[in-house]
Amino acid sequence: MEKILVLDFGGQYNQLIARRVRDCHVYAEILPYTTPLGVIEKSGYRGIIFTGGPNSVYDEASPHYDPEILSLGVPVLGICYGCQLISFMAGGEVRTAPVSEYGKIGIKTAGNSELFAGVPESSVVWMSHTDYVSRVPDGFSVTASTADCPCAAMEDRARRIYAVQFHPEVTHTEFGQQMLHNFLYRVCGCSGDWVMDDFIERTVGELRRRIGGSRVVLGLSGGVDSSVAAALLSRAVGRQLTCVFVDQGLMRKDEGDSVERTFSSLFDMNFVRVNCRDHFLRCLSGVTDPEEKRKIIGREFYNVFWAEIKKLGEGGFFAQGTIYPDCIESGKGDAAVIKTHHNRVSLPGDVKFDGVIEPLSELFKDEVRVVGEKLGLPHGLVWRQPFPGPGLGVRIIGEVTEEKIRIVQEADAIFREEMAATGYETELAQFFAVLPGVRSVGVMGDHRTYEELVVLRAVTTDDFMTADWAKIPYDLLARVSNRITNEVRGVNRVVYDITSKPPATVEWE
Ligand code: XMP
Repeated sequence: MEKILVLDFGGQYNQLIARRVRDCHVYAEILPYTTPLGVIEKSGYRGIIFTGGPNSVYDEASPHYDPEILSLGVPVLGICYGCQLISFMAGGEVRTAPVSEYGKIGIKTAGNSELFAGVPESSVVWMSHTDYVSRVPDGFSVTASTADCPCAAMEDRARRIYAVQFHPEVTHTEFGQQMLHNFLYRVCGCSGDWVMDDFIERTVGELRRRIGGSRVVLGLSGGVDSSVAAALLSRAVGRQLTCVFVDQGLMRKDEGDSVERTFSSLFDMNFVRVNCRDHFLRCLSGVTDPEEKRKIIGREFYNVFWAEIKKLGEGGFFAQGTIYPDCIESGKGDAAVIKTHHNRVSLPGDVKFDGVIEPLSELFKDEVRVVGEKLGLPHGLVWRQPFPGPGLGVRIIGEVTEEKIRIVQEADAIFREEMAATGYETELAQFFAVLPGVRSVGVMGDHRTYEELVVLRAVTTDDFMTADWAKIPYDLLARVSNRITNEVRGVNRVVYDITSKPPATVEWE
């Protein structure tokens, strides 16, 4: 398989670069800049992309790389900091620019660069830099400029080394995808062998070879990743697979049943559902502190899950739905730090397996979804919104009780129905109901009521690090409010959360 290396110098768009390369049907993997040259040399990459980064090449602590990388004969594309680093390594000059450029900037290309084939002479790119290449190294020529940046792109065509000061990977760069495509196909000579149908076929073959006649157990949460992993393993080994689904009673309305229906009717596997709502309610009884609730839910989930796995006996393989972003080592900082693998389950010492299988560890989330669709998982499951591990436990403020679970599930289901009916469902990143545990006075007929308050929360976001509250129409909110107060017993008031993140978080606990 053709592979491109994205060498990570700590820029914020590094995963995006790899995703854009994969959008061009070429497999890309991210390695930290600390990766030794020898390792890179042996891996047979078709091309190498140096990412951006927050440093200046002249800072003592800035990440550098072995200049020999430019002599491997493998095409290189430097982006932003990566561009300056190439200039620095090859004997050019980098300086603080008299004018920093940030945002959309007009660019002019010149000189028939392969990188700009099919790109108009004038176009818009996304810039974000304070340093710039003030003199190109010997052998390089300038191929693009802006009003304030005399070298917005340069190249040594003979050595196939290209560098751009702007960010082709962000959508604000009008022809960015075309430029990456040009680098991959015209410069690196890729043919585009990264396609999801091939991925499924190849992975199913590999799984069959590795698993042989052994059994495999997988923890199924009902989320996208573990569901796609289950579907893939089912395709590979059918009933040698046992999926264990722990239903703690804190999922959305009817979600546990829907997970069971999907996997026991659409896929060939052994499906074990552990219903332990009462156990969780007992453990959470009287507990109101948010962190304490999270800890209890996490701990009990772990205990129940592994008790069930142990019942299945020793040996075979343990599978999980770890995806690529969970495995990437970041290039930030002095040494490469491995990110917390929050989606990787740690195995208790007294459970023995022949190995761990992570069939999705090469894929980004959007690729996981494509695979899920191709394997026949229901659309709603494949495009499911993020849902917190502790489930409704963090959407019921204060003590979790059976009655509160009913209220929040019913209110949430109405909100979702109305959002789906108006098409808003696909426009928002996440929306749900919260029960803050507040009662207020109301009136129904001639009677005073004193009942629960429901909060509606809806956000737009790209990455969940920051989020805006969603400006959904008043008439939609009015319909949801009417339906909740009419149909959900015990609720007499509905409010809409108009706080962004920061200062709030998406969830209430
Ligand atoms: P916050 O509330 O931190 O949430 O703004 C950001 C995103 O993360 C989800 N979230 C969680 N996901 N386990 C998860 O798997 C958790 O404990 C958890 N807490 C929050 C939240 O739903 C939102 O999408």
